[in-house]
Amino acid sequence: MRYAQAAERGKFAFLFLPDFAGMSKAPEQEAPMLTLDPMMTLAAIARGTERIGLVATGSTTFNEPYNTARQFKTLDVMSHGRAGWNAVTTSDPLVAANYGQEIAPRPERYERAHETIQIAQALWGSWEKDAWIKDPATSRFADADKIQPINLQGKHVASRGPLPIPPSEQGQPVVFQAGGGDYGLGLAGRYANAVIGATFTIEDAKAQRDAIRKAAVDAGRNPDEIKFFAGVMPAIAGSKREALDRRVALGREVFPARVPYLGAMLGLPLDVAQIDEPLTPEQLEAARPSRSIPGHSGPTKSRARAGAFGTSWPTA
Ligand SMILES: Cc1cc2nc3c(=O)[nH]c(=O)nc-3n(C[C@H](O)[C@H](O)[C@H](O)COP(=O)(O)O)c2cc1C
Repeated sequence: MRYAQAAERGKFAFLFLPDFAGMSKAPEQEAPMLTLDPMMTLAAIARGTERIGLVATGSTTFNEPYNTARQFKTLDVMSHGRAGWNAVTTSDPLVAANYGQEIAPRPERYERAHETIQIAQALWGSWEKDAWIKDPATSRFADADKIQPINLQGKHVASRGPLPIPPSEQGQPVVFQAGGGDYGLGLAGRYANAVIGATFTIEDAKAQRDAIRKAAVDAGRNPDEIKFFAGVMPAIAGSKREALDRRVALGREVFPARVPYLGAMLGLPLDVAQIDEPLTPEQLEAARPSRSIPGHSGPTKSRARAGAFGTSWPTA
């Protein structure tokens, strides 16, 4: 709550919570990315803030669209129109195992994602703007003609609707997408209001933004409808020197905990005790870039930007 209030005072546009429904593989070195359910956390934060946007990540694979639509709409009403949904397909087998499942191939997960977002948006739109009358004088609560079932049946998910929730002040929660790859771009192009990119250089950020704008055009949308947020991890202090010192000090605390992640990215088991030593020639020989390294094009042509276990997604 304190961080959310500080971010609001600092004029941040929104708070972005990742979601990883599982426990870290290396709990001794690596703290869990998040320990509390993001929707419940944001519901609490909504009460202690007034303006900042509240964006939570939610899986399209391990949630029913009705639940997702209901929860985000609830948060939207509670927060007076500040909710956003970062729709992710979830690619980690550890998460799948927590739902008694295995990770389905990417085409299937994205097919379900398309259906899930379409159903969620239809449910959010199941009340027309002026359907809620709430007029004690005439005893009319709502205009039934303006509240319609959606009756959508997909291959993976379905819903009848309508949602029992009147429109929020912003109409509907906004949809975020994060991460690249052809499938991710297809999703962003069709539905996203905003995209968060894991970006490491200005050129890379520009290329990602261009790709998203093109995806919007390919989907028949105006590219200005999608806002692109390049993920940055700032260090803030009174002067540049102090900010750099602060960054280095933070790094000193964080680096040892990130050694297993670095190992996963290089395909090597790395030891924290080795942190100040160069890799041995044997280790260099054996190193293989993970498919999840930003910018690494895997054999499927898909550029998975993040999503491997242990990835530190920037939180805006
Ligand atoms: C900024 C950013 C934040 C992300 N946050 C999450 C997250 O919270 N949970 C998650 O499962 N994936 C997250 N991802 C991963 C992607 O949404 C996506 O799942 C990943 O790139 C793998 O894609 P795939 O489903 O095509 O295999 C994030 C990616 C980025 C770039």
